Amino acid sequence: MHPESLMMSHGYHPEWSEGAIKCPIFQTSTFVFNSAEEGKRYFELAYGLKEKKNREQMGLIYSRLNNPDLEILENRLTLWDGAEDCAVFESGMSAITSTLMEFLLPGDLLLFSEPVYGGTYHFIRHILTRYGIEVVHFDARTTEAQMLEKIDRSGSRLGMIYIETPSNPTNDLIDIEMCTRVAKHYDTNEHKVIVAVDNTYMGPLWSHPIKHGADIVLYSATKYIGGHSDVIAGACLGSKELITRVKAFRTFVGNMAGPWTGWLLMRSLETLKVRMEQQAENANYIARKINEHPAVERVHYLGLIDVDHPQYEIYKRQYSSPGAMVSIDIIGEEEEAFLFLNSLQLVKLAVSLGSTESLAQHPFSMTHADMDIEEKYEVGVTPQLVRLSVGIENKQDIWNDIRQALDKVYDKIGEGEMMV
Ligand SMILES: Cc1ncc(COP(=O)(O)O)c(C=O)c1O
Repeated sequence: MHPESLMMSHGYHPEWSEGAIKCPIFQTSTFVFNSAEEGKRYFELAYGLKEKKNREQMGLIYSRLNNPDLEILENRLTLWDGAEDCAVFESGMSAITSTLMEFLLPGDLLLFSEPVYGGTYHFIRHILTRYGIEVVHFDARTTEAQMLEKIDRSGSRLGMIYIETPSNPTNDLIDIEMCTRVAKHYDTNEHKVIVAVDNTYMGPLWSHPIKHGADIVLYSATKYIGGHSDVIAGACLGSKELITRVKAFRTFVGNMAGPWTGWLLMRSLETLKVRMEQQAENANYIARKINEHPAVERVHYLGLIDVDHPQYEIYKRQYSSPGAMVSIDIIGEEEEAFLFLNSLQLVKLAVSLGSTESLAQHPFSMTHADMDIEEKYEVGVTPQLVRLSVGIENKQDIWNDIRQALDKVYDKIGEGEMMV
């Protein structure tokens, strides 16, 4: 069956809870053991002190390790990505930072793509480096040979290739298969180079990085998975072996999602596909309209890239939809971008994305404010760029709102031209 058919029931049995059709919120910190022997056995398994016997199930111990809402949610999330296992966190940032911390050691090299979400950028550039990890960036234009050159020039052991594709906020694409080839080049018997992909912009519906060779897939579940701007959460998916390590790290850092978050996300997953499909349809309509407006210099939307575009082949291979994120280079500078943002009425001026309501923000001064200024310009995070996340409102209403805001910019540019 398809994942959308299983989101209402997978992994939960009504007889566990008085016949309740929905999984209740297991608001409990700890779980009662049937015997001291059972408690001892669960701890042996939790710490990996003994091997699991055939078909033996890990029992519930304490909600920092496991909780039914978390486990059922994790099982449901694996279905979309075809992953063996999943770990859910209390934020996308905790999923990302825990993965980086678990798989990197002092002295390792992290090769990461740019642009990435501003919070990820800050952690990589300013926090990971404090722990003796060398970080080197590349972008969508970097070739395979140039990646190898960057790694060889560093001299450190390559620990991980971390990519965000499509990138926030420019929709740039990174070739996952190319990154896995590069990672394999540096694999040894003792050390595997991990390829981790932040799939927040496309997932879990429109792209499945594991199928392209990625080891780890990361999500800010705050975005499409949660989808209603009312919960912060994150997820990390991959093989049983790798996710067991991530979960062990999570147990001791204690940044797992709580039962309420688990329950909210399960509720959201039931409508994930219909929400995302409507958002993509609306985005397709709106992006094409925006593209024709005279106040717009360029639209960063995957549905507009054609066969001659250097990233067309990656787009076709990795994605089944152009998604619902549209960034716009407004003609002008920050002032014109702000005029556009301040003029919006239906579309809310707020960061975040992937929610039922349409949102707009200014990456240069908001989500990506902390990014090095030269790197910002290198990858197109400029003062004229605004980012839109298209929601499920009526598409004509969204467009009418965007058009009246763009018209105001056009009027302003027109006045400027007349003054000249
Ligand atoms: C692409 C991407 N990854 C990760 C994050 C971080 O997620 P969270 O805010 O849930 O911690 C964000 C947040 O905006 C994001 O856009």
